[in-house]
Amino acid sequence: MAIRLYLSDDTSARAAGAAALADAWSDRPDVQIIRTSSRGAFYLEPMVERDGPDGRIAWFNVSPQDLPAILSGTGGTPVQTIPFLAQQTRYTFANFGETEPLALDEYQARGGLSGLEAAFRLTPDAIIDELRVSQLRGRGGAAFPVWNKWKVAQQAKGAQKYVVANADEGDAGTYCDRMILEGDPFRLLEGMLICARAIGAGRGYVYCRQEYPAAAARLRAAIHKADEAELLELNGEPFPIEVVEGAGSYVCGEETALLESLEGKRGVVRARPPYPAQSGLYGCPTIVSNVLTFATIPQILSRGGSWHASLGTEHSRGTMVLQLGGRVKHPGLVEVPFGLSLHQVLEQFGGGMAPGSRFKAVQVGGPLGSLFPTTGLDMPICYDAFAKAGAVLGHGGIVVYDHETDMVDLARHFMAFTADESCGKCTPCRIGSVRGREILERIQAGSGTMDDLRLLDDLGETMKLASLCALGGRAPYPVLTAIEHFPAEFRSKLRA
Ligand SMILES: Cc1cc2nc3c(=O)[nH]c(=O)nc-3n(C[C@H](O)[C@H](O)[C@H](O)COP(=O)(O)O)c2cc1C
Repeated sequence: MAIRLYLSDDTSARAAGAAALADAWSDRPDVQIIRTSSRGAFYLEPMVERDGPDGRIAWFNVSPQDLPAILSGTGGTPVQTIPFLAQQTRYTFANFGETEPLALDEYQARGGLSGLEAAFRLTPDAIIDELRVSQLRGRGGAAFPVWNKWKVAQQAKGAQKYVVANADEGDAGTYCDRMILEGDPFRLLEGMLICARAIGAGRGYVYCRQEYPAAAARLRAAIHKADEAELLELNGEPFPIEVVEGAGSYVCGEETALLESLEGKRGVVRARPPYPAQSGLYGCPTIVSNVLTFATIPQILSRGGSWHASLGTEHSRGTMVLQLGGRVKHPGLVEVPFGLSLHQVLEQFGGGMAPGSRFKAVQVGGPLGSLFPTTGLDMPICYDAFAKAGAVLGHGGIVVYDHETDMVDLARHFMAFTADESCGKCTPCRIGSVRGREILERIQAGSGTMDDLRLLDDLGETMKLASLCALGGRAPYPVLTAIEHFPAEFRSKLRA
């Protein structure tokens, strides 16, 4: 009988060599390859697993010639003993590495759809109340209380209401949404259906970034399967969900620019209020929430809001999904309750620095996130501590920079990024980011002065206070924190 081997079909795992393994072994009669989601321990990919007496056994960084060892069972590691995984608290990512992404029966066997069933037993008000008790805050970046937004959309009047999943995931170093779309797509659909029931929506969209073709295809296949299983229905009416691909713009992840883009227009930010929950897609009440937010909701309904509220810290309840990247030894996805320090996460899960690298700075929260030097590593990972430090957790991206990083060049890079990506609607962002980039280019070229550093500070304050959205509002943070923590590097480049 053929031996079942489990191999991830996630984009990162494929890039690390999983696709080549599947090809190399495809015509072996003694092997049956099952393509699963990835456990997110990307430094171990391609990882191959087979069933053992007490759970799965894994082989790491496998190449085609390792097959005899795997088949004879030599040299494997029990999955539950891998520290990177064993020390995590996985709820939203519990299925990862275990199931085939499109196997609806496996999803159900592991508790999938029980959140939706619970939602059907509750009134819309009671669903929203469960979310209030859970204290879930949106995971897309703004960390707004989910129940509050849903209440507004529920109470708003509209001929139609919409549920939109924000799968734009533009922050460099983030990939948890992609993993959900590719690896556990029914969880997202379940969360969207629960939301639709709570607010009375009749249609759903997933706005997926153009750079995620495999994710969009997988999600479309999952929608098809869910439709065949008659899951996409509410109150006897169809609840169609459509995947719409973006056009490669960072600002289209901002909820109002996203809605413009979804309506077929240029992705330009709208002034708020009104907020999308009041007047969103085509002027109708719309919930725009992050993929991870929706994926967190089914278990809140099935386990109860107070279960969720029992995890984490006072104002940051539940688990945080962190995505480690840059110069760490163990890049990958980590789900843990809020409250661990940055240092703990980087050491315990990141495994410290990559060989030959020394720590210089870490950026949390994507290209608009603040930079922390070694002295910032005691910071607990929770919304309050980050807000107090003028920083954001954003979508949980953590990128580590090493001793070879040129901080002036990095600061210039971030300002140039905003100048490229600004939608152009408001002056502080459109003009400010270009002027900011020019100043940093001047400093880099050796013709900047102390006045330029002061100018950057002034410009940063204007952008923070006067931009229409957080693209302009947060663009100064990586630049100003680079100057604050590494002043000597900037001064050494100034004109004498
Ligand atoms: C420039 C910019 C880009 C953004 N990109 C994303 C994104 O890619 N994904 C996302 O979920 N939210 C993104 N947001 C936040 C959204 O505007 C919005 O707050 C979020 O989708 C709401 O979902 P949540 O309540 O689940 O957090 C972005 C915001 C800004 C200002």
